[in-house]
Amino acid sequence: MDNRPQWGSRAGFIFAAVGSAIGLGNIWRFPAVAYDNGGGAFFLPYLFALLTAGIPLLIMEFTMGHKYRGSSPLTFARISKGSEWIGWWQVGITFVIATYYSIIIAWAMSYTVFSFKVAWGSDPGSFFFNEYLKLGEPGTAGSLVPNALIPLIIVWVIVLSIQSAGIKKGIELANRIFIPLLVFLFLLIVIRALTLDGAIEGINQFFKPDWNRIFDGKVWVAAYGQIFFSLSIGFGIMLTYSSYLPKKSDITNNAFITGFANSSFELLSGIGVFAALGFMASQQGVGIDEVVSSGVGLAFSVFPSIINEMPAFQSAFGILFFLSLLLAGLSSLLSIIETFVAAVQEKFHVNRTTAVLVGGGLAAVISLLYATQGGLFFLDTIDYFINNFGVALAGLFEVVFIAWFVKQLKPIQLHANSVSDIRIGSWWIICLSVITPLVLGYMMYDNLRQNLLSDYEGYPREFIFQYGWSVVIAVILAAALFSMKKWSQDQLAISSAAEKKEVAK
Ligand code: ALA
Repeated sequence: MDNRPQWGSRAGFIFAAVGSAIGLGNIWRFPAVAYDNGGGAFFLPYLFALLTAGIPLLIMEFTMGHKYRGSSPLTFARISKGSEWIGWWQVGITFVIATYYSIIIAWAMSYTVFSFKVAWGSDPGSFFFNEYLKLGEPGTAGSLVPNALIPLIIVWVIVLSIQSAGIKKGIELANRIFIPLLVFLFLLIVIRALTLDGAIEGINQFFKPDWNRIFDGKVWVAAYGQIFFSLSIGFGIMLTYSSYLPKKSDITNNAFITGFANSSFELLSGIGVFAALGFMASQQGVGIDEVVSSGVGLAFSVFPSIINEMPAFQSAFGILFFLSLLLAGLSSLLSIIETFVAAVQEKFHVNRTTAVLVGGGLAAVISLLYATQGGLFFLDTIDYFINNFGVALAGLFEVVFIAWFVKQLKPIQLHANSVSDIRIGSWWIICLSVITPLVLGYMMYDNLRQNLLSDYEGYPREFIFQYGWSVVIAVILAAALFSMKKWSQDQLAISSAAEKKEVAK
C-alpha cells in the first residue's frame, strides 16, 4: 500500500475535475469562438471534438493517473523511462499558465470590489487600460502597478494556503464550495441577462447556424482547440488529479460526467454572454457583430459597459459576473498548480508544504511580471504561444506516444473497463490512435505556418521571439533537464507492485 493522499469521495473528485475544466476558457472564450465559427453550426464540430477527442482523452488521462498513481513525470517514467520528459513538458506548461492565470483572477478580484460603486466610470475601456493597468509598451515592463499587485498577492496567499491544506482538506473542500456557488451565481446572471431588452436577439444571433462554415477546416481546428483548453486535457492536470482516486473508482463514468458538465456550463455561458451582448447592441442601436469580443476585452471592457447601460441593479450584476470569473478561475488555478506541486514533491522527496512554497512561490514571483505596466502584452503573447505550441503540441505527443510508441491503449482500455460501468470499445482506440492525432497534427501544421508567415498581433518580431517562441522552447529544454535526475528504484517500483496485483486479479 502506498500512502498517496486520496479524494474524500467520488463527488469530491468530480467537483475538483469539473472545477478544473470550468474556467476562464468557458466564460470568456467559448461564446466568441462559437459565434465566430458558424454560430449554431459550430455545435456539430464541437460535439464531434468532444466525443472523438475530449472524452476519449479524459478517459485516457483518468486511467493513466489511476493506474500509475503518480504525477505526470512519474506516470510517464513508469510507462517508459525515456518518456519522462513528456510529463515534465506538461508540468512546465502548467507552471507557465499558472503565472498568468493568477493575474487575471487578481483583476477579477479588483473588479468585484469596483462593482460595488461601479468604479470604472463612463469609459470602462480607458479605465481598464489606462487608469487600472497603466498600460505601457509591448516588451517594456516599466514599473509595478499596485492596483494589480495587491490583489495578485492576495490570490497567491489564498491558492497556496488551499494547496498546502492538501488534496482532501484543501483542493476538494474548496471545490465543493466554489463550484455549486459558481453555478448558482451564473444561473442568476443568465436569468437576469435573459430579461434585458434585446437579449433574445442576442441569443438568436448566437445560435443562428452558418452551415457553410462547416466545410472550413479552421472551424474544426477551433473546435478541437476549445475542447483541449477547456477540458484541461493534454497538459497533465487530469492525470495528476486522477492519481488521487481510490482503487475502486468508475473512471469512464467520471469522464463523461466531467465532459458533459463542462460543455453544459459552456453553453450556459454562451447564452448568458450573448443575452448581455444583445442588450448592449440594442441600447446602442448597432448589430451584435459590432459588440462581440472575447478574453480580456470582453470581461474588463465590454461587460462593464453593459453594466453601465443596465436600468437597475448595476452593482449586483457586476458582483455576480466578476465573482463568477473569480471562482471559475480559482478552481482551475488550483488544478494547474497541483500538477507541478505533485511533480516537485515526488521527484525531490520533499513534503507538500515545501513543494507548495517552492513551486508555487516561484510561480508567484514570476507572475509579478504581469503586474507591471507592460504586463498585458507579456500575458497576451505568452498565453497565445503556450496554448498553441505547448498545450496542443504536448497533447499531440502524449497521444501519439501512448498509441503508437509504447502501444498502451489496449492495456489502458482494459484497466478502464475493469473498474467502470460503461465499457469502452474499439471506437475509443480509433479516436485516439487515428482521429485525434490527425486533427491535432493538422492543427499544429496550420498554426506553425500562420505564425511563421506573420507575427502574432503585429507585435515586434524581437518581442515575439523573446516572449513567444523562447518560452515554448525553454519549457521543452527545462523538461529535458528535469528528466535527467534519476528516480529511486523504490519510486518506480510502486507501479510494478500495483501492476502485478492488477494482472493477478
Ligand atoms: N480548463 C480551464 C479553462 O477553461 C483551464 O480555463
